[in-house]
Amino acid sequence: MEFIDLLLKRRSVRKFSEENVAKKDLDRILQAGLLAPTSRNRKPCNFLIVENRDTLKRLSESKKTGAEMLANSSKAIVVVANALISDTWIEDSSIALGYMHLMAASLDVGSCWVQIHLRQTAEGKDSEEVVKDIIGIDDYFRVVGILALGMPASEVKPHTLEEMDKGRIHFLV
Ligand SMILES: Cc1cc2nc3c(=O)[nH]c(=O)nc-3n(C[C@H](O)[C@H](O)[C@H](O)COP(=O)(O)O)c2cc1C
Repeated sequence: MEFIDLLLKRRSVRKFSEENVAKKDLDRILQAGLLAPTSRNRKPCNFLIVENRDTLKRLSESKKTGAEMLANSSKAIVVVANALISDTWIEDSSIALGYMHLMAASLDVGSCWVQIHLRQTAEGKDSEEVVKDIIGIDDYFRVVGILALGMPASEVKPHTLEEMDKGRIHFLV
């Protein structure tokens, strides 16, 4: 598959079937996260895999909206970055999430980025604090987002080259 075809194929998948994501696919997705570049090669990100149904349900309630799919996902990867070793934890975590999201698409595994950093729960609590509490990590870790993983419940419609908004490209003279 050409890289452009993978970029078109990648979609946010929020409805999952009962089928579990295979261990070999999870391993590949994690390899993508580990291969993501990091500023000054500091590698601040760790990848926490959640498969426990209760924990997935609790994570799905860690923000007001947009995390519901975690409750029905096969697994989730919580990306946690050690802010003591890198000041670019937002960028490093985001690139890792993006790489894993693309790798999942290449394997026909559905995935969705769940934003945690800067978000709140329905009760107004800080989502990052809530997630840190659920997974039990130290305060100096920061949580940009979680990748929900599952086998798509229905066919995933790819993007098309035609829908691209080329008006956002500006050649400066
Ligand atoms: C930084 C970022 C945060 C996102 N947060 C969420 C989220 O919390 N919940 C969700 O359902 N989708 C989330 N998404 C997915 C976007 O809504 C999605 O990428 C966008 O609507 C385009 O759809 P597509 O991914 O199918 O191309 C996020 C995507 C990015 C890049």
